[in-house]
Amino acid sequence: MATPRGEFTSRFGFLMAASGSAVGLGNIWGFPTNAASNGGAAFLFAYLILAFALAYPALMAELIIGRHARANAVTALQSISRGRKSKILALAVGFAGIVTVSFILSFYAIVSGWMIAHFFDPLARLAGLDALAQWLTEDAVVRNSLFVIIFMLLTVYIISAGVKDGIEKWASRLMPSLIVILILLILYVLTLPGAMEGMRAYLVPDFSRIADPALLVDAMGQAFFSLSLGVGTMLVYGSYISKRENLPVVGSLVALLDVGIAVMAGMLIIPAMYVAQSNGVEIYDASGGLIAGPGLIVSVLPSLFNSMGSVGILVAIAFFLLMTIASLTSSISMLEVPVAYSVEHHGVDRPKAAIILGAVVTVISLIIVFNFDPLFDLVVTYTTEISQPLLGFAFCIFVAWIWSRNEVLEEIRQGSPNVDAGIFWRVWPFYMKFICPLAILVVYFQ
Ligand code: PFF
Repeated sequence: MATPRGEFTSRFGFLMAASGSAVGLGNIWGFPTNAASNGGAAFLFAYLILAFALAYPALMAELIIGRHARANAVTALQSISRGRKSKILALAVGFAGIVTVSFILSFYAIVSGWMIAHFFDPLARLAGLDALAQWLTEDAVVRNSLFVIIFMLLTVYIISAGVKDGIEKWASRLMPSLIVILILLILYVLTLPGAMEGMRAYLVPDFSRIADPALLVDAMGQAFFSLSLGVGTMLVYGSYISKRENLPVVGSLVALLDVGIAVMAGMLIIPAMYVAQSNGVEIYDASGGLIAGPGLIVSVLPSLFNSMGSVGILVAIAFFLLMTIASLTSSISMLEVPVAYSVEHHGVDRPKAAIILGAVVTVISLIIVFNFDPLFDLVVTYTTEISQPLLGFAFCIFVAWIWSRNEVLEEIRQGSPNVDAGIFWRVWPFYMKFICPLAILVVYFQ
């Protein structure tokens, strides 16, 4: 091993890093729009159940494997495998995770780049640079490429500094700021005309939709993406948790923070759309549904901010800062997966690994930017709808069917000596063995 492994120095540091990974564009953009197009609170209800019944147990699997092995995803999965076949499977799943997360980062960086460009737009207008402001909001290849590069440079900068001085330090600064900005924005938007109608659309359930397979598939995909599961991110973060830490407790705090922030983001985005409508902005697409794709963030909301006069400039700055922070604390967790592998497995120096792998992802992003229409949706679909649930399924198989039950218990006991007497140990192993893999498959094949 080239350098000693890093470790989070406190529970707070881990919670900020892991919830930083979990809370991202998926929460602030994906969750509210999924809810709006799937029966409002009916989606919220299904999401809460799936997040705690399926995603939380899967999150625990990754944290436990990671902390036990104290290693990157490939080495960790191999260390809990016994026979030759399961070692080969471990190699395949670990690698598939690394490839998947790198492709997720490549499309994530594009969208995050848009967020940074839109953050600079109101600043340019404040400075009277109207031509620059116009350029910043135009969807052009040059602008998109430039901001992908800026976003990836920020990600590489944080990851090269390591676990404590990079990930933990920045997540501990950025996540509290994100929560404060989100709360302030919600409070402000709720005072505006039209907001309450949006709140009603968000919180009044249309229960006729609850058994709709499309709703369940969306809710599961959303829960897996939101908790960053299946690609080794949480496994790697778990490998930096102290052995004294109580894993079931910290895992549930991460899930609660993630779900809580998604629910709060819904209280911002959906009411903001209805405020936009009452200001004369079109919020429905051609098929009559609420605009949910890129148009929502890069067109509907900016039009709303523009219609709000000078206060709109401040609100726009705060909103796109929120989006940029949410993206960055997620992207660092993605880049950490291949970087940890290169550092530990190939002895590459951390800054060098971060730069090389960051450059590879940037090149993939740029290829997507230059071929946006054929590639963007394809990459999103393959990584998040196909690869992530299948890899999540594989993690369940590893922890429940391949790894020895006694070793699992020993690992959890380290920070929680009485865990075998509590509800977690009575339910979770059975759950991981039968319910989780089955449920993932059932929803997947829907
Ligand atoms: N959880 C992030 C979000 O909700 O935006 C996305 C994500 C982060 C997915 C890290 C995968 C990952 F490894």
